[in-house]
Amino acid sequence: MSKRNPYKGPDANTLRAKRDGYPARSVYKLEEIDRRVRLFRPGMSVLDLGASPGSWSLYALEKVGKGGKLLAIDLKPLETALPPSGTFLLGDARETAALSTYAPYDVVLSDMAPNTSGNRMADQARSFELFMFALGVAAKLTKEGGSFVGKIFMGEDFTLARTELKKHFATEKIVRPEGTRSVSYEIFLVGQDRRKTEPVKP
Ligand SMILES: C[S@@+](CC[C@H](N)C(=O)[O-])C[C@H]1O[C@@H](n2cnc3c(N)ncnc32)[C@H](O)[C@@H]1O
Repeated sequence: MSKRNPYKGPDANTLRAKRDGYPARSVYKLEEIDRRVRLFRPGMSVLDLGASPGSWSLYALEKVGKGGKLLAIDLKPLETALPPSGTFLLGDARETAALSTYAPYDVVLSDMAPNTSGNRMADQARSFELFMFALGVAAKLTKEGGSFVGKIFMGEDFTLARTELKKHFATEKIVRPEGTRSVSYEIFLVGQDRRKTEPVKP
């Protein structure tokens, strides 16, 4: 008997996202995280790492309004147009110097994920690297009191990721949104109340 591929074909959330004007179901993950921890306010400045097809960017831009700003980056083009307060960069987030365009940020988001290979350990390791890169960016470019949301595949490095997050953010939450597919081992680490940064010593 053939098993149904849970990633194949549109599910109820995918169809709902299209109806609501978002290119992907992932919007409901950010919506749930936002409902639980209150990430956005009008006028905020946001960085969205791994933004394609564009659902998180659209959602964040709605929340920060016309007075806010968002910089989005991805290896792949967006599948939606952003309102004028959003800017998209095509490229590898790890290789662009332009990430600080609207810094310091109130919120840094990373939904970055590697192309999965089927080798769970290898995929976890690559997801950990992307998470740690995003956290490094957030540590450098987030305002005091600001927030970070980062996706990571659950694995043996998860504790290390949490420890690093807590060095920079006073409040930590682990969120597995309801919209996450049951077979997925992704999880979101949320850091809030960015700690005061020490002045650089001469
Ligand atoms: C799950 S998707 C993001 C979905 C997006 N948050 C949305 O709501 O539309 C993950 C994205 O991370 C991107 N990505 C992975 N590694 C990246 C990198 N080094 N730089 C930029 N984007 C990257 C992938 O191209 C992919 O589009």
